[in-house]
Amino acid sequence: MTRTGKGLSRSRDNRLNSKEYLRNMKFLICGKGGSGKSTVAALLAANMEKRGRSVFLVDADESNIGLYRMLGLELPLPLMEYLGGKKGFREKTKAAGAGFGAQTPVFPENLRAGDLPGECLAVSGRLRVLSLGKIHHFGEGCACPMGNLFRLLFSSLSIDTQDLVIVDTAAGVEHFGRSLDGCCDHVLCVADPSYESLMMVRKVDALAREAGLGVSVVLNRVTPEIESEIVAALEGLKIIGKLPDSRSIFLNNLKGRALDPDMAEIMPICDTIEKLCF
Ligand SMILES: Nc1ncnc2c1ncn2[C@@H]1O[C@H](COP(=O)(O)OP(=O)(O)O)[C@@H](O)[C@H]1O
Ligand SMILES: [Mg+2]
Repeated sequence: MTRTGKGLSRSRDNRLNSKEYLRNMKFLICGKGGSGKSTVAALLAANMEKRGRSVFLVDADESNIGLYRMLGLELPLPLMEYLGGKKGFREKTKAAGAGFGAQTPVFPENLRAGDLPGECLAVSGRLRVLSLGKIHHFGEGCACPMGNLFRLLFSSLSIDTQDLVIVDTAAGVEHFGRSLDGCCDHVLCVADPSYESLMMVRKVDALAREAGLGVSVVLNRVTPEIESEIVAALEGLKIIGKLPDSRSIFLNNLKGRALDPDMAEIMPICDTIEKLCF
């Protein structure tokens, strides 16, 4: 059974009542800059792949390059560049009649991750990683075309019930302003131990609820002495796991090495996601 991204405008009630909604999950990873979004996205993707899931990890952060090394991969050709850069993409969307915010497909119907051009995918087993686009030059303009590309891609995307889609976003809440949340089912918010991060989690929770999405929180860099304080600050939110302040994550990242997908603390987070999705 497959589900397309066509139901973007379905009402919240319809989605919550739909069996498909519970079976196919597209996760949007959100949080403050540096809170650990890419770290959580990489660990989650690698561990779920080891569990036998087909994982499509979309890098929607135009400045993110560390994500690939966290998975032992290299940055593939960004999809925006494959489409001829922002200029080429604009021309293609114009030709297809798909202006800003439109859902007219530029991509074929029922597109699968594996149908995307090979040079745009970094692949490891059942894991496919796609970069939407990067900012390369001074003064090249804003990242809005990346948002448009994201929406068009997801409106054509078809996924199997055993697949998991994870979107690693840029810091902050701009993707909510751009309505990218409408392409996903669930928001996974990463909280590090700082006032700003905790406030950001509250903000993301409010925006996600407004969009009718489920929200879960992963605590990052928690130490035993601060854990209860963070949990109290996030009272009422669904915390599904925590990662410690880890020397191995820190060192692997410093040296550009892959993270350990079998890290004990990622297991309960993946267990919860499996229960939510499959
Ligand atoms: N649990 C952790 N323990 C140690 N270092 C971490 C941990 N989580 C993230 N880091 C480090 O913090 C930095 C930012 O993490 P990253 O995942 O890139 O954040 P984001 O994607 O939110 O900007 C990286 O250098 C990463 O290695
Ligand atoms: Mg990141």
